[in-house]
Amino acid sequence: SDCDSSPLVNQGPFGSELSLTLQVQKHLEPFRLSLEKLQDVSARLRKDMIRGLGKHSHHRASVKMLPTFVRATPDGTEKGDFLALDLGGTNFRVLHVRVLEEEQRVLKMDSQICAIPQDIMLGTGEKLFDHIAACLAEFLDSQKLRGQTLPLGFTFSFPCEQKEIDKSILIRWTKGFNCSGVEGEDVVNLLKEAIHRRGDYDISSVAMVNDTVGTMMSCGYRDQSCEIGMIIGTGTNACYMEEMKNVKRVEGEDGRMCINTEWGGFGDDGCLKDVLTEFDEEVDKTSINPGVHTFEKMISGMYLGEIVRLVLLKLTEEKLLFRGCPSEALLTPGSFETRFISEIEEPDSGLENAKKILTKLDLDWDLVDACVARLVCDTVSSRSARLCAAALATIVNRIRINRGLDHLKTTVGVDGTVYRKHPNFSDELQAAVRLLAPKCDVTFLISEDGSGKGAAMVTAVAQRLALQSLCV
Ligand code: BGC
Repeated sequence: SDCDSSPLVNQGPFGSELSLTLQVQKHLEPFRLSLEKLQDVSARLRKDMIRGLGKHSHHRASVKMLPTFVRATPDGTEKGDFLALDLGGTNFRVLHVRVLEEEQRVLKMDSQICAIPQDIMLGTGEKLFDHIAACLAEFLDSQKLRGQTLPLGFTFSFPCEQKEIDKSILIRWTKGFNCSGVEGEDVVNLLKEAIHRRGDYDISSVAMVNDTVGTMMSCGYRDQSCEIGMIIGTGTNACYMEEMKNVKRVEGEDGRMCINTEWGGFGDDGCLKDVLTEFDEEVDKTSINPGVHTFEKMISGMYLGEIVRLVLLKLTEEKLLFRGCPSEALLTPGSFETRFISEIEEPDSGLENAKKILTKLDLDWDLVDACVARLVCDTVSSRSARLCAAALATIVNRIRINRGLDHLKTTVGVDGTVYRKHPNFSDELQAAVRLLAPKCDVTFLISEDGSGKGAAMVTAVAQRLALQSLCV
């Protein structure tokens, strides 16, 4: 065989190969996190989560632990037709969703992707919301829905301080968005204003949903023990059902509320300094939001490719790759796309893919280079999976202790391109969770379109609760 994913094992016949291996490994060493280190990371996150929940400590917490005002997961009696908007993942989408009680199913009736050009992502908020309102209008026309005023679930996948289900203030942009005049504002208002500026249609109630919450809720219709939602895509984050008595910022002691952890911000106070590599620091410095979302920048799809590029570049400078010659492409930020990592790590076609990709990047490679590139991808994606596992383990351990259980059986709804598309990310993550949360039995359910269907589910559950409270 040509080589496997740890190609340069010490038995190479040539001394030079052995020394190359050792030198490459030395550069990759900082990415390898031991189980003890992961336990330590989990313990730090646990503290930060408690700080985020606290009445007086939350405003300086880097893990924001945002109340979502989602107080119940589906009970299977929800039904009706809904509109959904989904902003903040790979694409912006508009959807028409139907919840069928008899079949306990959520159907996507139709959906449409609308591109958000770069100049809108970095322009004014007014332009962004005008664009969203225009996409919605077009969709309503194509579906002949303009006459009806259906409830709308808005999956808005950015950290928001929620005051109510329909009042949601953007704390900060992440993932490459940076529209002026939106941070600190109520997103529902901005959407309604844009629709009023057009004046040619209207919407009824709006429920604001983070994508993690949508993911949890869409899985929750199928599996009512689903009480965690996790995204590992362009960005990363998770939500879970917390006991109300621990949610000190919201009135009331009874029942539970879904908390959007915003774990992407973990480390923003410097507590992960010892885990960060020089490459992470570089990615942060050159991002549009330096100093924020430290944890996310080690994990999610927006950044993984760039980390790999920087490592490849470093190894080239050290003459450990490509005979010491970088190409113009390798020198260009963003040129190594995150999907290349998945392609290169494919168990069967990976090495062939690596060769194609290195050729596309105009690099003068040999077989050893292709194998080293594969090793770099594997190292960077494994770290991402293991860090996610540490964070998820923190949550499941917390739920178990919250409920005073010796053993917890629970389900996580998951979505995101990295989790879905990478060949062994989910296996690595699950294996590490088993080690880090040995008393929890965690089932992973891939959510089918959680951001779209989940937004409808949140809206449907809110309606059910409102109706039930009228009936008592
Ligand atoms: C956002 C979260 C979101 C996550 C996944 C992060 O950048 O802050 O709100 O859930 O990305 O999309």
